[in-house]
Amino acid sequence: MRVLFTGGSGKAGKHVVAYLAAQGHRVLNVDRVALGHPDVADLIADITDSGQMFNAMSAYASGEELEDGKGHRLFDAVVHFAAVPRLMLAPDNETYRVNVMGTYNVLEAALKMGIRKVIIASSETTYGVCFSDGEVDPKVLPLEEDYDIDPMDSYGMSKKVNEVTARSFQRRTGADVYALRIGNVIEPHEYETVFPPLKDDPGRRRRITFSYIDARDLGQIVDLCLKKDGLGFQVFNAVNDTNSTPQPNAELLARFFPNVPLSRPVGEHESLLSNRKIREVLGFKEAHDWRKYVK
Ligand SMILES: NC(=O)c1ccc[n+]([C@@H]2O[C@H](COP(=O)([O-])OP(=O)(O)OC[C@H]3O[C@@H](n4cnc5c(N)ncnc54)[C@H](O)[C@@H]3O)[C@@H](O)[C@H]2O)c1
Repeated sequence: MRVLFTGGSGKAGKHVVAYLAAQGHRVLNVDRVALGHPDVADLIADITDSGQMFNAMSAYASGEELEDGKGHRLFDAVVHFAAVPRLMLAPDNETYRVNVMGTYNVLEAALKMGIRKVIIASSETTYGVCFSDGEVDPKVLPLEEDYDIDPMDSYGMSKKVNEVTARSFQRRTGADVYALRIGNVIEPHEYETVFPPLKDDPGRRRRITFSYIDARDLGQIVDLCLKKDGLGFQVFNAVNDTNSTPQPNAELLARFFPNVPLSRPVGEHESLLSNRKIREVLGFKEAHDWRKYVK
């Protein structure tokens, strides 16, 4: 497929773009800074500029497309990752403005131009635990997609609003619009620093209910979304199968969430941010369990 990818120069995007290119997709990376991947062209553009986004939707995806003489054509799909990616990087109103208006612009441009598949990066922070002020319990565990999300911070709010925007544009157009509630992204080089301390100090990952997503497995999830048509508007948690901490759920729940009810039994190490839906609906099979990389 010809795929327009926003934010492909970032931490998560560079691995997902590489995964998609390796699957044979022709990817154009739209970002404020170039990625420089040998098989991926870069278009420097700003998602907060609606005109630039409308223009980008029919851009050449590579120099080769000048040669075939077919002129400008729409992309088959858009994957939108560009954002201010967490709280406390920018002033709260700037985080909200870039994420909400940037996502509106990308969705509007893609869907009004006639593109029929858009995948957007939402976040686990929409569940309202991660960036909450003070120690907050989830209403229920495991966290599944039908949860009444209620973040109290500007980043989580922006991602919740983006899901609402995506759903509205989907209703208006009938296209497929999938939102990925992405967990804490782990790049290959991070296993050796992030994971070993969790053996003695799992509490540092309480706010993300102990979950993680390998950046390459996130590539697989995006690829599966590109290949799965006809689902309309969907929200998918995007995490690996198990918690990032070695302690069993019985211990984690008793120690860190003693007052939180369970909606169903959970497996011994099953991710408390559930990935059941991507396994059942998309056929996700994780390739990068952290235990492969951490002694
Ligand atoms: N990293 C995580 O753990 C995590 C977890 C959940 C969700 N997410 C979401 O995943 C996506 C990618 O996150 P990341 O960690 O790779 O972030 P990142 O900051 O590393 O990458 C974001 C990219 O977006 C680009 N960008 C920012 N503003 C832009 C603008 N106005 N116009 C064009 N490009 C712009 C940046 O240049 C950067 O390359 C984001 O939407 C983020 O909210 C990330």
